[in-house]
Amino acid sequence: MIIQPRVRGFICLTSHPEGTAQNVKNQIEYVKSKGKIANGPKKVLVIGASTGFGLASRITAAFGSDAATIGVFFEKPAAEGKPGTAGWYNTAAFEKEAQSAGLYAKSINGDAFSDDIKKQAIELIKKDLGQVDLVVYSLASPRRTHPKTGVAHASVLKPIANPFTNKTVDFHAGVVSDISIQPVENEEDVANTIAVMGGEDWKFWIEDLKAAGVLADGVKTVAYSYIGPELTYPIYRNGTIGKAKDDLENTVPVINDLLKDLNGISYVSVNKALVTQSSSAIPVVPLYISLLYKVMKAKGIHEGTIEQMQRLFADRLYSTDGKLTLDEKGRIRVDDWEMRADVQEEVAKLWDEATTENLEEISDIKGYRDEFFNLFGFNFPEVNYEADTNEVITVPSIE
Ligand code: NAD
Ligand code: NA
Repeated sequence: MIIQPRVRGFICLTSHPEGTAQNVKNQIEYVKSKGKIANGPKKVLVIGASTGFGLASRITAAFGSDAATIGVFFEKPAAEGKPGTAGWYNTAAFEKEAQSAGLYAKSINGDAFSDDIKKQAIELIKKDLGQVDLVVYSLASPRRTHPKTGVAHASVLKPIANPFTNKTVDFHAGVVSDISIQPVENEEDVANTIAVMGGEDWKFWIEDLKAAGVLADGVKTVAYSYIGPELTYPIYRNGTIGKAKDDLENTVPVINDLLKDLNGISYVSVNKALVTQSSSAIPVVPLYISLLYKVMKAKGIHEGTIEQMQRLFADRLYSTDGKLTLDEKGRIRVDDWEMRADVQEEVAKLWDEATTENLEEISDIKGYRDEFFNLFGFNFPEVNYEADTNEVITVPSIE
């Protein structure tokens, strides 16, 4: 079938198998170009492995330090004339590249919040790897069915105390406008968002993996967080999602306690704002990202997910000097370049100036759009999008 982008709101309903494969290939090439990561991970479980930071983590582990990887995600293959999801195609491409490189790679498609998928992952680790020495937790989801209570929690993206009015952009149309977002109406919205995006499920994973004896001595685990600039605080860090991130970060000492007798350690890494399927759904944030990209590219310090994860692994998690600088709250900061004072000052200035009329000129809205379409395998010069392509692609390790 001929697959073109079909956009509705901030999501793209179609994905291109060859384009997503190109995306994966480009990420692999980047990691290889940086050389081997000394003392990197060898057996890795990535939860949320099919897109965004999780996929980039998996690629970095595999092609940066020859790690065997098991990836868990929630994706759909092609069905009834509809292409599969980007994460499905990404994984198919990743597994094929891993196989040709002689690297073990298997995947589990299902609800990572469930007890059943945790069991499946544990069985697979036992059967094929014995133990894992790194667990990456990179889920981003709008909902979670709690495995113990059966309650279905839905997260919300809202301010907490007051309405929030600021600029936002429709990045497809290039229109800048004001948006007012009403605060949560009840504490339940906050609790639900924490239930979905907080640290409980990360803890459940580590508890189950530990109880099954599949965590190696010295195991590391890392989950991802975000802070960002003050202008997005009301909707992000001080909003419902920020409360969930607080909870995730507060889970670090709890997990460290669990890992103590294994000499293991857990981290939260605060990552840079990037175009992913999840971040394009947050109001205000896409305008910030398009201005941030402009400033960081001009300074030669722009990074995408793969550059971020390669730096996280090589310079932080597995730094050769064994020294790891953490912030005052014990977090790894690979958002350090985003948060540099000179970067933030310039973004703040552009923020005040941004209008529909000057958007193309003062922001990198074009780069934003490009990266958005790249997520779904579009806008790659190597791919002929007019040509028929086979949408029925299998992930080798999944029947
Ligand atoms: P993403 O949407 O690209 O990836 C989410 C992953 O989770 C996918 O692999 C998806 O299949 C998987 N997933 C979702 N629900 C699932 C379920 N029920 N069961 C199994 N798998 C499921 O998101 P991302 O932007 O890479 O986010 C990953 C983490 O990084 C999140 O914690 C996010 O808050 C954080 N982060 C994102 C940014 C950003 O700007 N995008 C910045 C800093 C931190
Ligand atoms: Na991810």
